[in-house]
Amino acid sequence: MVKIKNGTFTIKNVGEEVILFGWVQKLRDLGGVIFIDLRDRSGFCQLVVHDDSPFYSLASSLKNESVLKVVGIVSERENKNPKIPTGDIEILVQQLELLNSSRDIPFEIRDDTTALEDTRLKYRYLDLRRPILQNKLFIRHKITMAIRNFLDREEFIEVETPILCKSTPEGARDYLVPSRCNPGKFFALPQSPQLFKQLLMVGGVEKYFQIAKCFRDEDLRSDRQPEFTQVDLEMSFVDQYDVMTLTERLIAHVFKEVKGINLSLPLRKMKYDEAIQLYGSDKPDLRFSMVIHDITEIFQKTDFLVFQDVIRQGGVINCLVVKGQADSYSRKKIDELTDFVRTYHATGLFFLKIFSEISGSIAKVVTKDLEKKLREQLQLEDGDLVLIVADSSYSIVKTSLGALRCKLGKDLGLIDSSQYELLWVTDFPLFEYSEEEKRYVACHHPFTAPVDADISKLLSDKGNCYSKAYDLVINGYEAGGGSIRIHQEDVQERMFEALGLSDADIQNKFGFFVEALKYGTPPHGGLALGLDRLTMLLTGTDNIRDVIAFPKTASASDLMSECPNIVDSYQLDELGISLQE
Ligand code: AMO
Repeated sequence: MVKIKNGTFTIKNVGEEVILFGWVQKLRDLGGVIFIDLRDRSGFCQLVVHDDSPFYSLASSLKNESVLKVVGIVSERENKNPKIPTGDIEILVQQLELLNSSRDIPFEIRDDTTALEDTRLKYRYLDLRRPILQNKLFIRHKITMAIRNFLDREEFIEVETPILCKSTPEGARDYLVPSRCNPGKFFALPQSPQLFKQLLMVGGVEKYFQIAKCFRDEDLRSDRQPEFTQVDLEMSFVDQYDVMTLTERLIAHVFKEVKGINLSLPLRKMKYDEAIQLYGSDKPDLRFSMVIHDITEIFQKTDFLVFQDVIRQGGVINCLVVKGQADSYSRKKIDELTDFVRTYHATGLFFLKIFSEISGSIAKVVTKDLEKKLREQLQLEDGDLVLIVADSSYSIVKTSLGALRCKLGKDLGLIDSSQYELLWVTDFPLFEYSEEEKRYVACHHPFTAPVDADISKLLSDKGNCYSKAYDLVINGYEAGGGSIRIHQEDVQERMFEALGLSDADIQNKFGFFVEALKYGTPPHGGLALGLDRLTMLLTGTDNIRDVIAFPKTASASDLMSECPNIVDSYQLDELGISLQE
């Protein structure tokens, strides 16, 4: 079989006769001599055809992206090009065969293409020819192989679970599939293999993994796709530290294999409450150190009515200190930051500029005494900018300042993009209150075990129950998440009850699962890593579409095959489905 080698030739190969296959990347006809860059997955090398060659006229007629077979001799170049790996050599063509020609292509196949993403997605098979995307696919493959090898050595077995199944609640909408054989009934595509992997533990598999496709109909972002891939794990007879230790060894193996980076283990752990308090996020980006300060106490006795109100309502006053940036933020730029925090429902953004004299939107209310306390607690220096949010809602204050922190980190270039900061976020609340649904919902999913001390509070004090859940956070992304599961039937039933599910709901949605818990279910737990996100992080992109061969757009469609799309009416008839106008 032919080796993929066009980009691998060096001076050492001079004199060798070689057979090459590939695509015409570029052709330069200098009149008397033609140079062709012939590309394959490994890169490209330069072919030379002189006008005394029987293949000269064929060569001169070639279009970009035509497919060639070439026999030639590797020879040393007269004019070397140190900028490319094969720049010392060229291939003197002895035989040239046109295996297939190409039409004019809609955009040039080069890494720095200016083609719109929509055009590239429509012709994704051409986009995939770009070395930058080939490299990302290759790294994704290396990650997957490293994971499979590691888990195989650790006695995990890979088991596939169904794609046509009953809905698994992971917080998003399901993609539904109608069943022709069961008119009026639907399968759901799995949001994750959660229930199946737990049932595999009931089934005695003990250590399971799967590179699993998951489907979620949710609003898309640059790190979300409707169809994505998880590295899904589950283990029996473990506690959360076993799962976290195994996972971080797996991640360290991947970083070493793929990037040559040695991670230092164990990874840092941070409780959820601390992450929110200091970083305003359950996935803090620790590549830069700015933290959120609570200055409520300092303003306890202020005359400033807005702050008085906030304090009276049990709210908080928090701030960020932006070191040395007081002069860089004009009123207009602060207004932009104010608009930014408003998108997170903050009512406004107050600011102070610290010099020997303090200025800023609330400078007048900062008395000498307050100023002294602020300078001390926040360790302020001349030139610092203090950005303050005050609100009756703790979560609005934290979320808006957390988002502002990330924005400032990017805007001010505080982040070293070659750095990786990994941590575990632990001790998540078991429930979170959904304003939309006006009820408590599961923070992870309803199979997550409460911490032992909180089992008795499941029905009486939901707001203060914590879980045995953990997230792996890398550079501000949630790269994975998991938990120890409930393995006792009575606790699972109480959990469903706490989530407001009636007996009939439980029976209807999870009857089979609750039934399984009756037959000697081992204690178990696991986790799922987002393979696409991990690949994004390891290939340095913030666009999830770059790491998926055939991704969907932000509106969950495929521009290449133009799906989703209408179907023939006989297909709907067979399914007993009629569409509303
Ligand atoms: P969770 O919902 O946290 O947990 O998902 C696990 C990881 O999957 C990735 N992820 C996504 N990646 C791309 N696009 C999406 N739409 C998307 N949604 C999630 C994230 C996330 O951390 N069954 C549980 C796991 C468990 O408890 O074992 C689950 O699915 O990186």
